[in-house]
Amino acid sequence: MNEKIITQKKMPLLDAIEKYNKKKPAYFCTPGHRYEKGVNLRFRKLVGDAVFSFDLTETPYTDDLHNAMGAIWEAEELARKSFGADDTHFLINGTTCGNQAMILSAAFEGEKIAIPRNAHKSVLMGLILSGAEPIYLMPEISQDTGLLGGITTESVEEMFAENPDCKGVLVVSPTYYGICSDLSSIAAICHKRDAVLLVDEAHGAHCYFSDLLPKGALEQGADMCAQSIHKVAGALTQSSMLHVKSKLIDQQRVDANLHLVQSTSPSYLLMASLDAARYDLENKGKALISKAVELAEYVRAALKPIRGIRCIGREIVGTAGINDLDITRLTISAFELGLSGYCLKDILFEEYNCDVELADDKNILAIITFANTKEDMDQLLNALSCIAAMHQDGEPVIRHEIFPASPEQVLSPRKAYFSRKEDVEWKDAVGRIAGELIAPYPPGIPVIYPGERMSQEIWDFIEEYRIHKRHFHGPADSKLRYFKVIKDESDD
Ligand SMILES: Cc1ncc(COP(=O)(O)O)c(C=O)c1O
Repeated sequence: MNEKIITQKKMPLLDAIEKYNKKKPAYFCTPGHRYEKGVNLRFRKLVGDAVFSFDLTETPYTDDLHNAMGAIWEAEELARKSFGADDTHFLINGTTCGNQAMILSAAFEGEKIAIPRNAHKSVLMGLILSGAEPIYLMPEISQDTGLLGGITTESVEEMFAENPDCKGVLVVSPTYYGICSDLSSIAAICHKRDAVLLVDEAHGAHCYFSDLLPKGALEQGADMCAQSIHKVAGALTQSSMLHVKSKLIDQQRVDANLHLVQSTSPSYLLMASLDAARYDLENKGKALISKAVELAEYVRAALKPIRGIRCIGREIVGTAGINDLDITRLTISAFELGLSGYCLKDILFEEYNCDVELADDKNILAIITFANTKEDMDQLLNALSCIAAMHQDGEPVIRHEIFPASPEQVLSPRKAYFSRKEDVEWKDAVGRIAGELIAPYPPGIPVIYPGERMSQEIWDFIEEYRIHKRHFHGPADSKLRYFKVIKDESDD
């Protein structure tokens, strides 16, 4: 490869697609819609023709994700340099497949890997695929806010003391709420034992491009991290990156694992969006992120005087294992005015046309990116001011969710996944071994994993969501009238 032509001022994959579209050959490959001609007319009108000319395949100009040597290789190479990795892979199945590939690359069947209890459900899928044995780490709980805090170095040290053969630790940092663990110290603890630190950095790709945000995982010594570039950094949904920076990770194994979890027909539209997002992050990321920070801080300051509304800020750093906070995440509550997070989210959407990312019992979460505007902020502020004014007589919501303690693990996730199951009525689930996971969505964090015994505490926690008709990911019966448990073979 000619180093000279690969500069951060280029978008090699975008260029390759553009060049192909200029040539516009008679097309006899997949996809069958042949540019825009074979697409439903209404769809075409609504979406616009140009989109379809990016929906190509491995042509002589556009390279092959699974054996990248041309435009995709160049685009990945530029991203690698931008993020400071040894190796970077474009992902077209989101950080979901990045988490799977990380676990598959760190631990073989039967080997131990430490997983935080607040891991995304894609981590469970990685455990099922790999057959690795999870040791669960419980994040601290912030009593003040009800949020899950960081994974402490003490809990990692303790875990290694009891499991010296553990191959690696996975940490989610930043979390959905922007909460960061002390990754530098955790990396040092792992490396002392030749174990790897994997970071689910789905929410943290922007951190590498501004001093106003927490440091990125690779900058703190992580061996691998997966990032949803689509979540905050301008790429299209499903577009993520997997970075490796480690002497402990076998790159060929990573490649093989990516073959396992990614489509053989990757979307060029998604990959081009990664190339373009990298360009913006690299060339103007600092300014863009400053804008996002400014907007978020504007809202935070303006909410301060409003009685009954709280927006979490840097005051939580240093508590509950929280090492840093991404201040572009606005975690806002009105529970002192009698409004749960769910209720506040619904009112904001129905009455004020503001759609926030998620709600929990106490809070809503608004994600602020550089693509937001001052008008968006004012709309949210105006809505919250009006809601606060109308609910000044409300009684505080007393109850708030505290993530339940981990239940007894009877079978590994993989063993449970491949065991025979039966349905029981939800009311009879306590004491049975779960045959499926339950993850209230959003945020998609599993409360019970397959192979774990349903405790009363976990049942009560899930029941609260069920009563409020929240979405669940995992159960075959999404309304949870029935629950799949491991079949009691003594009945046969
Ligand atoms: C912490 C975390 N990890 C992983 C994922 C999965 O990422 P993706 O949507 O890019 O597959 C999510 C999605 O919300 C997430 O919040």
